Formats: sequence, structure tokens, C-alpha cells
Amino acid sequence: MVWLSGLALAALAVFLGHGSAAPNGNCPRDWPYAPFKTEGRDIVNAKGDKVKFAGVNWPMSGESMIPEGLEKKSASDILDDVAGLGMNFLRMGYSAQMVDEIYQAGGEDISIEKAIIAAMGEQNGTSVVENMIKHNPKWTRETGRFEIWSDIVNLAAERHIYVHPDMHIAKAGWCCGHADGSAWFGDEDFSVANWTRALSYVADWAAQHDNIVSMALVNELRQPWVENYPKFGYNWMTLVGNMTLGSDAIHKANPDLLISWSGLQFDEDLSALTSGTNLLSAPCYMCVSNREAPRMDPVVFNLADHAWGDKVFYELHLYTMTEDLDMGSCGIIKAQLYRAGFNALGMDPPEDCALLENHWLGPCRPASRLTPVAMTEFGTAQDASLLSSAYIQCLREFTTENDVSWAVWALAGSYRVRSGKQEVDDTWALFDFNWDNWRFQEGIDKVWKPWVKATIG
Ligand SMILES: *[C@@H]1O[C@H](CO)[C@@H](O)[C@H](O)[C@H]1NC(C)=O
Ligand SMILES: *[C@@H]1O[C@H](CO)[C@@H](O)[C@H](O)[C@H]1NC(C)=O
Ligand SMILES: *[C@@H]1O[C@H](CO)[C@@H](O)[C@H](O)[C@H]1NC(C)=O
Repeated sequence: MVWLSGLALAALAVFLGHGSAAPNGNCPRDWPYAPFKTEGRDIVNAKGDKVKFAGVNWPMSGESMIPEGLEKKSASDILDDVAGLGMNFLRMGYSAQMVDEIYQAGGEDISIEKAIIAAMGEQNGTSVVENMIKHNPKWTRETGRFEIWSDIVNLAAERHIYVHPDMHIAKAGWCCGHADGSAWFGDEDFSVANWTRALSYVADWAAQHDNIVSMALVNELRQPWVENYPKFGYNWMTLVGNMTLGSDAIHKANPDLLISWSGLQFDEDLSALTSGTNLLSAPCYMCVSNREAPRMDPVVFNLADHAWGDKVFYELHLYTMTEDLDMGSCGIIKAQLYRAGFNALGMDPPEDCALLENHWLGPCRPASRLTPVAMTEFGTAQDASLLSSAYIQCLREFTTENDVSWAVWALAGSYRVRSGKQEVDDTWALFDFNWDNWRFQEGIDKVWKPWVKATIG
């Protein structure tokens, strides 16, 4: 069809229904080659090529529900810096409340001005709004939160960065604690109906962005610390039940998306799912017992039973302040990561699995099915201690040896609002307080850049 002019080709594309599928005039046959699916332990794009992620978490689940830092630096400059690290992945944690408020407002998106002033008060909020518009002149006071998010996703696309929306906390605020009301399905601020509604909304919105190839169900689930907590039935059965509802919601709204599943205990544990053990009786930290399990037929989770079976990848987190894991040597960390779910990558069991043989959380078991697993949160202070952190060194080794996708916490500097205070500095953030420079340049050069390179070349 060489005789067709460019214009005629464009018209033909519109006629065939592909005309509006790609933002920024990208042809769907160009990067990012969506949609993606899973194939054994790998994520593959529409061409069948393996894709890995290396990136960072950019929080937007604080009280204002707008990504942090935009009043200090433009979205395009922030994304240039991310691209400068060689990263290809942004995990953006939003709050379900962001969608609740749209429904409360009869379908209307919440403006910058309204969002910031609600979070910071009239006086401080007004100057933050002004600075945000000064740095991002495309926006006005009336620009809505989802419009901002769309602009950021488009800017990320220009830099070949994938955006992974993550339902970080049901009610906007700093995450995560056992007693924050968003710990578990049905917790005070965590309505399952609002959550699935938010997942549907975001999945539907994501359809206009080729570089959103995946989204998460929920961030770090944890036992809710409220009176009569057993009424919540925090365990493997209720995890799988609710995550299935969430996956159905996403898949119905947007069947192209990959869906990431997170685990119990702040997303440290997916062992019963990846190992195919009995969900009624498999051990888990602080879980509520299914007392009749000994007399019941075993229940085993099998991704292949679901329409979205080849759309799911697992995500796990690990921090040194874990409540239940041994962080005392790299050997034991690797063994626990294997047990927690990285076994689904089909790797050999690490040597120190021998030490877990009689552990109360269970031994290392081979995976019941190969499935991709990513490490989507970990982090530490961005200062000289980063260079000597045995934990960071260990995760770097583990992800590199086993070809694991990852995202560090966090692309931040200062927080607009955090735990009731305004303009909060964050020692773990990659940027300094003013988002001007990297907080710890030596860490960028010696840790983050080479780690990204080792992951995605
Ligand atoms: C407003 O900003 C000032 C200066 O940063 C701070 O001292 C004050 O606590 C802020 N107001 C509120 C309501 O947090
Ligand atoms: C669910 O969303 C509605 C608005 O549609 C809101 O009024 C309600 O408070 C939300 N529920 C929870 C638990 O946040
Ligand atoms: C979701 O979790 C709640 C709280 O644990 C539980 O009561 C409910 O049965 C779960 N839903 C499903 C479909 O498993």
C-alpha cells in the first residue's frame, strides 16, 4: 500500500478504529508495544519481547492527592531526572478517596486549588497552588487531579517510562500502619465497594494511556488493629477472595492491563499463593485461624482458573523494620524472599533455605506455577549509610542475580503534608528538600544508576 499518502493512512487508521488508541500521536506499533501479558516468569509485550522494570515510587496519596514536589519543580523536569537515572518505571501510589470525591462531586474532578487548600488550609495552600502553577504553566487553579495525572503519564510516555498506578491507601494520608483505618478490607476507612469502584475508575482512565500497561490492586495489607480484630478474618482465604474481586473489577474495565497482587503483612508474604499450599491452613503472621480447616477440603489458589490468569504479576516489599523476618544476614534474607514468593520466578532455592526447614512460617517450597514477581518497595536513608547498607547490598545482589524488576521508595524530597505536619523533609527521598538536586549524589552514581543499568541495561 505504498501509494497511500500519510494522510490517507491516518484516515484509514481512524476508519479501522485505531486512530485514538495512542496518545502523543504514537502509533500502537511503537513503544510501548502494549498490551502486555505474562509468560511463565516473564512479562512480555505485544511483540513477545521480555520487559523488565527498574524505577521509583512517586507518592500521590498524601492529603492533597496530587503527586509530591510539583510546587517545587515542573513535572517535566522531575521526569527528566528520573529518565536521567535510566529508569523506565514509576509506581504512583494514589488513594481510593481521590475517586470517592469524584463520585461525591457528581463526576467532576477535584481542582488543584480545592485539593491543596483542603489539605493545607487557605493561607499555606494558596502559595503552594501559586507555585505549582508557576512551575507547571500548563495548569490553572481549575485543573483537576486526574488531568494532572494524565499530563504526567504523557510526559512519562515521551521518556519511555511506564506508569503503574498503585492503590496505596484507602483514605489519603501517610501509609501504612496497623491502626490507620486502611489496613485491611472492611477496616474503618477501607470500604471494599469504594475500592473496587476506584480500581474500575482508574483502569478505565488508564485506557487512554499506552504506557500504563499495569496497575496494582492494593498496597501493603496488614492486620487491622481495632477492637475485635478477628471479625475481619485477616488470612489467606479473605486475601484471595478480595483480590479476586479487585482483579475482576480491573479486568472488566480494562482487559489489557496487567494486575499486580500484593501480599499479607505489609506485602512481605505471598507464600501460600506462589507455593500452592492450602489457603485454609497455610501459616501467616498474625492471621486469624480457620478453626474448622482440619475437617475441610483444601483450597488452593490457581491463577489459571481466572480470565486474568496471564495478566497477574506478584509484588513484594521488604524493609529493615519488618516485624517478623530475620534481617541479620544476606543469606537468610534471600531464603525468606524465596519463601515469600520469589520462588515463582523458578530460581533455585537459596542455600539458607536449610535454616527455614522447621520455621513456623513454613519452609522454602518450589513454586506451583511460574509467575513474574517484582520488588516494588524497599528503601533507606539517602546518605553515606546507603553505601554501607548490608540490606541494600543484599537486595541489589538478589534482584540482579535473579533478574528481578524493582522500584525504590521514593521519588520525593519534602512532603506537602505528612502525618499532620506540613513541608516535611524526608531523609529517604532521592531529592533534597527543595527537589533541586539529588539528596546524595554519590548514592546516585554508585548505587542507583549502576543498579538500574544492571536490571534493564
Ligand atoms: C503553614 O506554614 C507555616 C510555615 O511553614 C507553618 O509554621 C504552619 O504550621 C503551617 N500551617 C499549618 C496549618 O500547618
Ligand atoms: C465511599 O465513598 C463515598 C462517596 O461515594 C463516601 O461518602 C464514603 O465515605 C466512602 N466510604 C469510605 C469508608 O471511605
Ligand atoms: C474480604 O475481606 C473481608 C474481611 O476479611 C471478609 O469478611 C470478606 O469475606 C472478604 N471477601 C471475600 C470475597 O473473600
